[in-house]
Amino acid sequence: MSTACEELVDPKQIQLDEIIEKYRHENGPLIPILQGAQGVYGYLPAHVLKHISKAIRIPLARIYGVVTFYAQFRLTPVGRNLINVCLGTACHVRGGAKVLETIEKELKIKDGATTDDGRFTLEIVACIGACGLAPVISINNEVHGRLVPESIAGIFAKYE
Ligand code: FES
Repeated sequence: MSTACEELVDPKQIQLDEIIEKYRHENGPLIPILQGAQGVYGYLPAHVLKHISKAIRIPLARIYGVVTFYAQFRLTPVGRNLINVCLGTACHVRGGAKVLETIEKELKIKDGATTDDGRFTLEIVACIGACGLAPVISINNEVHGRLVPESIAGIFAKYE
């Protein structure tokens, strides 16, 4: 049986502090700490950024500046399923924009957003290395290729 004290321990917080400790004395510790924090939480919650700011004595405003500058960082949680729509050259010339438009209509969200029910997050990406199957999307890293707009709804139905 666990004690009240044990229940207060947040394993993510422990991991975060380990990451901070690992990089804090390096030159330019902020980016690796943010990457590590996002790896732990899946995104960068406000309380985590505050904690990092205090721990490595970098003003919070500067941290937000970095987080919003780099596309790799996210300030909101990802939905249960992450859709990457490829708009790299091969996919673009083979109808990727039409596929994206269909997805945006179907889910009623734009790039970077998550559906209200938390089921899908939509992200536009450049080439995902499956150009031979263009146009492609990936959902949770599972690639769906040679897409036509009509196939989108059927694919989405497989993801809860
Ligand atoms: S351009 Fe889309 S997979 Fe390469």
